[in-house]
Formats: sequence, structure tokens, C-alpha cells
Amino acid sequence: MTTTETERATGSPASPGSTTYVGKPVDRVDGRAKVTGEARFAAEHHYPDLAHAALVHAAVARARITAIDTAAARAVPGVIDVLTHENAPAMKPPPKFSPLDLSTFVSATSVNYLATDEVHWNGQPVAVVVAETPEAARHAATLVRPAYQELPAVLDFAAEEPNAVPQKGNLLQESEADKGDAEAALKTAPVAVDLRFTTPPYHHNALEPHATTAVWDGDRLTVHEGTQNIAWLRKHLATRFGVPERGVRVLSPYVGGGFGGKAMVWAGTLLAVLAARAVGRPVRLALSRAAVYHTVGGRTPSTQRVALGADAGGRLTAIVHTSVSRTGRIGGMPEPVTAATRHLYAAPNIHLRQHVVELDLLANTAMRAPGEAIGTFAIESAMDELAWELGLDPVELRLRNEPERNPVDGKRFSRRLLREAYALGAERFGWRDRDPRAGATRDGRWLVGMGVATAYHPTLMLPANVSVRLGADGRVVVRCGLQEMGMGAATVQAQIAADELGVSLESVRVEYGDSSLPDAPGAGGSVQTASIAGGVVAACDKLKRMVRRLGRGAPGTYAEILARAGRDHVTAEVKANMPVFMIRTLLERRRLVKAACGVHFCEVRVDRDTGEIRVSRWLGVFDVGRIVNAKTAASQLRGGIVMGLGMALSEETLVDPRTGRIMNPSLADYHVPVHADVPHIDVHYLDEPDPTMPLGLVGIGEVSIAGVAAAVANAVRHATGVRVLDLPITLDKVLPG
Ligand code: MOS
Repeated sequence: MTTTETERATGSPASPGSTTYVGKPVDRVDGRAKVTGEARFAAEHHYPDLAHAALVHAAVARARITAIDTAAARAVPGVIDVLTHENAPAMKPPPKFSPLDLSTFVSATSVNYLATDEVHWNGQPVAVVVAETPEAARHAATLVRPAYQELPAVLDFAAEEPNAVPQKGNLLQESEADKGDAEAALKTAPVAVDLRFTTPPYHHNALEPHATTAVWDGDRLTVHEGTQNIAWLRKHLATRFGVPERGVRVLSPYVGGGFGGKAMVWAGTLLAVLAARAVGRPVRLALSRAAVYHTVGGRTPSTQRVALGADAGGRLTAIVHTSVSRTGRIGGMPEPVTAATRHLYAAPNIHLRQHVVELDLLANTAMRAPGEAIGTFAIESAMDELAWELGLDPVELRLRNEPERNPVDGKRFSRRLLREAYALGAERFGWRDRDPRAGATRDGRWLVGMGVATAYHPTLMLPANVSVRLGADGRVVVRCGLQEMGMGAATVQAQIAADELGVSLESVRVEYGDSSLPDAPGAGGSVQTASIAGGVVAACDKLKRMVRRLGRGAPGTYAEILARAGRDHVTAEVKANMPVFMIRTLLERRRLVKAACGVHFCEVRVDRDTGEIRVSRWLGVFDVGRIVNAKTAASQLRGGIVMGLGMALSEETLVDPRTGRIMNPSLADYHVPVHADVPHIDVHYLDEPDPTMPLGLVGIGEVSIAGVAAAVANAVRHATGVRVLDLPITLDKVLPG
């Protein structure tokens, strides 16, 4: 036997489970395929006879189409067909969201694209051109001429805000609260702040724009698409096109980033599948960046009020946090803006309320840490301002108000190490060495400031179906229809399976990204890693029991036992029982609060003449349960911080309030952070397992964007003395008026 084979053979069903790989900075299993270009994304699958589609977008906000002239488009050489509401086959209504599905967080638009003459938002697809080449399709799309009867549209968020109505809650995440009488306590508080914040709309801007390659074979459908929810996409397509679900296959092995934008089913996907059926050929629809803005909802804008009252010792007596956000009239996701404030600080009086307005715009959707990302900007900026009012160190203010139990209802925390995170972060960042006075620290023309803020994101998991196959050759195959958006999802499950079975990492292969594999929950709400780990651990346990039974109690390695039993392989499969799982989860939630949390420390430099703001140092300390992969976890946490820097300083979707048109749907005009904008980001984690989660794991995909914008705003306040309440923090807002 070679060494490798010996190593592989050493695993045995008596292995207690180890931490040989869990916690280590293991390289991504798909890293090589990605850097060599071998990895093929949704728009890179070739079929003989492949046709290409392009969308025609409405240029008005609300209207009926009175006529649509496609003659010039049809005359373009290479054009195969132009589909409009006059000739396109109708789709069936979408499936209902199950109350047991995480997707209840995110209600989708149910627009019957191309089967209606109604225009619901500026940018809605009103025609699809199919051609022999992408160039011909795109050119012909510019020649389609719709005529409209325009209808009154409600488009201006700021103007509509007074008409906001109470926001609907959701089963899995409470957002509001009423404890004591916060307004009365505010009036009598010795020290108080009362601030109004605004945040603009944002868009996801994944590296890979949305793309679909759709192939029909009779009633069977194959779809290549980067999606955050393979099982949901399959179900959605089967329902909308009236074909059996088992005949629909979704292939999604590589997803070039999602951030919530690929969690739902949007127009491009449906219209690619529709076009493929209509022209009887495989069709690829690769959206332009602008088409992504026009057909995939982004993040809601918000206005928020945060009022805090405290006694002279800096103990909070009142917390008020209210919000107004928007959805589309055709659907959208009410963002849980005040949700994090239910958990952050102890106070006898707390009032949290959310309102929403419906506009004639594309439905908004989930974007990384929906709720917490923008809600923490307001509450964590207000805490900082209260610290200024009190003349207290903002770290000390937070420690004085750190709750022992969940502030609004007294539930226990499953674990909470924010004190430890603040202590470690302050020490590593050199927080105590700063001059606490505003505008006092200078480096040439730069005003230097430091800011701090808390990050928070709730922890949830869902059950996953997983199978594990052990071959007589020692090879292990884990099968699960999980979604890999670049975060290392398959890599960490391979690490977990290798440790659970006591075999080498090289002997484990994870098959994923395919709807023919066992169903997994979507990659959203930071649920994926823990959810699938739960299934992998259960399947590995079951497999070890099966092999022990096979060996009739006699000792031996897996290979020996399988050989003695004359077996080629053993497969264990676990299946989720969703209703039982959800009942257990809801019961647990009645007594327990679990979350990922952390602290951000940031240093900014502000040019005293031009107002230019540069982030010069960043340090985050996270309390995120057990870390499976030190390398991919650090990248995931850094990524959230980078996205938060964009939110804080440069990103903003500009919507013309007269026409509902998005004015900056390109990376040239919508500014995401580039390398030059991002300093070294120092990431630490406390690596304390959560006692209530599989392997102690807590989702880490979203927590690190929460609090980032506040940390920047607080550092700008320290550097300049200017409190910026309206994101993004652009230079005009810090220059003296
Ligand atoms: Mo997300 S915003 O949990 O896909």
C-alpha cells in the first residue's frame, strides 16, 4: 500500500470524529478550476443551435402598451423572433411561498411577463428579441418601438413617506417591540439624542451578471443559472411552465456572487426559458449590467428615527427606533430595519416600529443583511452621538448597556461574547491611545478619526437532505444540492465530512449545484453552512452505524469491513422533516435568541480642504461560533466589510422621482469600492462554538456588513466634528457649508 492509500484506509466506523480539518485554512476545492478558467458559469455553456436573447425595457413607469412595432427589429439579419405581449405564450402564476420556506422572507414579483399589456415599472421587460448572435439580439432590441398610454405613477419615496402604512411582520424574524413607555422616558431623560437618518437604494452588483441558458427537450427542461436557491428555482419553473418538477433540472455549480440578488426568480430567467420554448432552440440570455438593474430588485431606501435617552451615568432609559422603507406595488420584501435593535442594548423602555410605502418601481429584494445593514447604521450612529453628549468613550457606553438577556423580552442568548470582542478589538486596534477630542488628530492636511460600531445578524438554520456514499476504495462522495457562490460552501462540507468519518480530505468529494442532488435550503439568511453541516453530520453518523452493523461488531477499517461483507459501497441518506423542524425551531425561539455578532474598529482620514474621505485602517472581531475554515471565513467577513464601505461612502442607486428611471445602472456611475478604497482588513474571531447549533456553527455571510457604515460615520464625526446622517457619506456632507 502506498502512504496515501494507508491514510485513506485508516478511517473506521469507530472514529469518534476529529478536528483534523475543521478550523484549518484549507484551500477552496474549486479554486483551481476558477483561476484556470476551467469553471464554466451559466453564460458559458455551449449547445449546437444555441440562440441568444436580449430584453427590451419599458421607458415609462406605469402604462398600458397600446402598440408595439417590431418590424425594424425583425428586419435585422440573424433575428429569429421577437416576443411581445401580442405573441408570447402565457406563463402560469408562480407557486405560493410555503410558510415553511425561508423564501417567506422575500415575497417576489408575480408579474405575468409578456402576457400582459401592463407596465408596472420603468425598466420592465416588454419584449424579448431572439437572434443567432448576442450582438444581433442586442442591436435589434434597440429597434423595438412600444407605444404607451401612460398612467399616474407614485414614484417619489421622500414625498410618499408621510403616507407609509404599518409593515407586515414575518414568522421567523420579529422586528418590532413595545416595552414600557419609551417616549415618556425620553422626555425626562437627563441626556438624550433624537436623530433622523436616511439611506439610499443600493444594488447588489455581483461580479457575474445574471445569466440563463435554457434547453427544452419536449417537456423536459435544463437550465444553467447561477442561483442562490436551486430547489426553489426548479419548483418555480415547473409551476410557471406547467411541466412536472422531476423533468426540470437546474445546474448551478458556479455562482459569481449573489448577495440576495440571485435568491429569487426574476424576469431574465423566465424570459430565457420562455424564449427557448417559443423558438424551439436552446437560448442564452446574459443580462447586461443595466438589464440587471432594471429587472433584479435592489435594496430599499429608508428613513429612520433613533432617539435615545440615558441617565448621567450613561445607562439607557429609552430606545426609540422607527423606520420607513419601500416595496413595489407589485411585490417586494419589507426590510426588517429595526430588528437588530431588539437585541443590542438593555433599556427599561423600548419602542420599535416599521412602516412601508408601495411605489410603482421594481420590487425591492433581499440584499446582504436585509434590515441589519441599514438599521445598524442608524442605531450605532445614534449610540455614538449619545457618547459625545455624555462625554463618554463609545466603547464604554456600549459595555455599560450590554444586556444579560434579550432586552425586549428577557429571552436567553445562546451565547454572546460582545464584551470579549470589544476588549480584544480595543486592545488590538490601539483604541485607548487615541485623542478623544473631535478634529484634534492631524497628519499634515488629513484629519484623522476613529470609529467603532457593533455588528449583529440573527442565526437561523433549516434542514437539508444529504447523502454520503463510502466506496470500498475508501472514496467518499457527499451529495447535496447546495449553492456555491464563491464562499467555499463545498470546501467546508468536505472538511466536515472528512472529520466526521475520520478520513483524509483528499478522499472526500462533494457533489453540489445540481437540482438532481438531494434538496438543500437556499443560500440566504446566512443559513447554508450550519444547515448543510447538520445534514452532513447526521448522514455520516448514519453511515458509521450502517458500517458497524455490516461488520457485526468486529473491529476494522471501513475498507476491511466492506471487503469482509463483500460490499462495493455503503450509502447513507438523511431527509429533512420540514414541519417537525420548523415547530422545533419556533418553540426554541420562544426562549432563546441566537445570533452572529461582532465589533468594527475603523480609522478614517479626511482631507481638511477637499473633504475626501479615505478609510485607512480596519479591524473586526467576530463572535460567530466555531470557524470551519479559517481562510474562507476571513474572506467572507472581509467581503461584508468591503460591501459595507461601499454603502458608507460611495454606493447609491439614483432613481429619477419623475420617471422612476434608474439613472446610474452601470459600474461607471454606481461606485463600488475598488482595491484602492480598501485598507488591509484585520479580522479576528473568538471561535467559541454555539452550544445550540450543529458543530457549534453560526452563519457568517451577513453579519460583517452590519455596523460598517456606522463605524465609518462615527470615525468621520471624530475626525471632523461633523455628524453625517444621510448615506452615502460624500465629501460635500463633511465640508463646512
Ligand atoms: Mo441573502 S440577502 O441572505 O441572499
